[in-house]
Amino acid sequence: MSDELTDLYRDILMEHYRFPRGHKHVDNPDIASEGHNPVCGDDIEIKLKIDGRQVSDISVNCVGCAVSVASGSMLAEIIEGKSLEEVKKIATTVKALLTGGEFANDVDLGDLEALKGVKNFPVRIKCALLSWITLVDAIEAREAGRSVNVSTTE
Ligand code: FES
Repeated sequence: MSDELTDLYRDILMEHYRFPRGHKHVDNPDIASEGHNPVCGDDIEIKLKIDGRQVSDISVNCVGCAVSVASGSMLAEIIEGKSLEEVKKIATTVKALLTGGEFANDVDLGDLEALKGVKNFPVRIKCALLSWITLVDAIEAREAGRSVNVSTTE
């Protein structure tokens, strides 16, 4: 990765960290979940309003490091208006991006491309995945009819 690209990715991450999207309150959410990184103690809370099968509103409130906050902000930005199927596909793509797995090339990742740089810092991969794991756990729990109020990442 060139130095210019590394600098660009870092700038995008820091902009999301300073001005996190979705940092608000959503009343009466259809999906609500809390994630926790036991290694560092960082917490995230995600709430979604669902209209049909689409995300009509989202809040992401994260108390964590720059990478976890930025990743949660990018999540809030990209999934609003998306169907739950699209959300899960994006989450799978982000996970593959960070862990080196296979992913579909037809997903427009937008600012999430900046998470590519995180792959070079293995200790930070869990930070970047915290919001995504929390979100997917919540969606899958809802689809399975399980309680979705709290999920803990390991
Ligand atoms: Fe806690 Fe990054 S150090 S999520």
